[in-house]
Amino acid sequence: MSRAGGFGGGAGAGSRGGLEAETQRSVKGNLMVRPAPDGRFGEFGGRFVPESLVPACLELEQAFDEAWASQEFRSELSRILREYGGRPTPVTRCVRLSERLGVEVLLKREDLAHTGSHKLNNVIGQALLTRRMGKRRLVAETGAGQHGVAAATAAALFGLECTVYMGEVDTERQALNVFRMELLGAEVRPVRSGSRTLKDAVNDALRDWVATVGHTHYCIGSVMGPHPFPYMVREFQRVIGDEARAQCRELLGGADPDVVVACVGGGSNAAGTFAGFVDSGARLVGVEAFGGAAATRGAPGILHGMKSHLLQDEVGQIQEAESISAGLDYPGIGPEHAYLAALGRATYVTASDEEVVAAFRLLSETEGIIPALEPAHALAWLVREAGRAVPRGATVLLTLSGRGDKDVAQVRDLLRAGAFGRASAQSAS
Ligand SMILES: Cc1ncc(COP(=O)(O)O)c(C=O)c1O
Repeated sequence: MSRAGGFGGGAGAGSRGGLEAETQRSVKGNLMVRPAPDGRFGEFGGRFVPESLVPACLELEQAFDEAWASQEFRSELSRILREYGGRPTPVTRCVRLSERLGVEVLLKREDLAHTGSHKLNNVIGQALLTRRMGKRRLVAETGAGQHGVAAATAAALFGLECTVYMGEVDTERQALNVFRMELLGAEVRPVRSGSRTLKDAVNDALRDWVATVGHTHYCIGSVMGPHPFPYMVREFQRVIGDEARAQCRELLGGADPDVVVACVGGGSNAAGTFAGFVDSGARLVGVEAFGGAAATRGAPGILHGMKSHLLQDEVGQIQEAESISAGLDYPGIGPEHAYLAALGRATYVTASDEEVVAAFRLLSETEGIIPALEPAHALAWLVREAGRAVPRGATVLLTLSGRGDKDVAQVRDLLRAGAFGRASAQSAS
């Protein structure tokens, strides 16, 4: 194992050995529950942060534990997600796409949540916690801009200050979301270091948090970072899987789907979805961008306060992720995904940019739904594997984590430039 990048190393995660073996045993029968007390999912996770951040992580852990055990907190969260966020989001049966692929496709429609993606579930939970901890400011990182928009939205709703770090490259490809965040009253700080994408935005957000921790909460956007973030964010996103499980049962006469698939950047929509199905017989599949395939091509290492699978070279330097979709441009995955992969409970695969653009267009043309490029990865895998790894007639639940408005201009430009062949020019002209 090697240590890599920003916040690699620092205060370790406590004692291992017997505790870990014991936790592994108890967790195996009962997956996607609480991690070990040191924040480990098997060998992954933990809390690798500078000393100055340890008290903030402990404070957050305690605040989350208390809140999550409080009926009042949970009712308030559910009420806001219902009245403001538009939950429950529906599950849509895709008739024409199913005919085309020969498998029955059900979409969990997070694109219909307020702000257009699943990110709202997490930020409303964290904003409520921020208020509970008596803090007045949020910092957040963002890639595609969806988490930044969601954080700015929650900050407006709760009257909090908000600063969003965003890689300069992403501010260019997601310019509309930058403007949305500013309209919502947030300050967007472009990050000019490193690859100028999501990894670098996380570094700067963590640095800001270290300096301002007395009044600031770091509203992380995915199931990554030091404990308790991966656990807490998964719990805030679990609403996707819990709703979907009940909705599938209703649609499928009491049965669960055969396959449950979601895209994986850091992995929060996938973790929330998998949490609802992990004890079912469904095959769980996470789809990464080919150029950001930390689960399939990464190695164990430490980055952003956690041990997980990371894209890195032979000496442990983090390699740049590269993907058409800003939201999947991250060289790691959340530690619980690394654990689920190690156990074999979930499988992680990849989709190429070309397959993704084709899937983006296919869903638009067959179902009248323009997906975000991120969940188009999950669909791209399904298109490739329908009738192969996914047998004909199988039932597949796919989490449509966001809507495609933010990506339309980028795809138009790519198609105009002829980046993905033939049919492109026609629709792009
Ligand atoms: C619509 C959408 N889906 C998925 C993701 C990836 O995040 P995660 O893997 O945490 O769900 C993003 C990230 O910005 C996103 O905007």
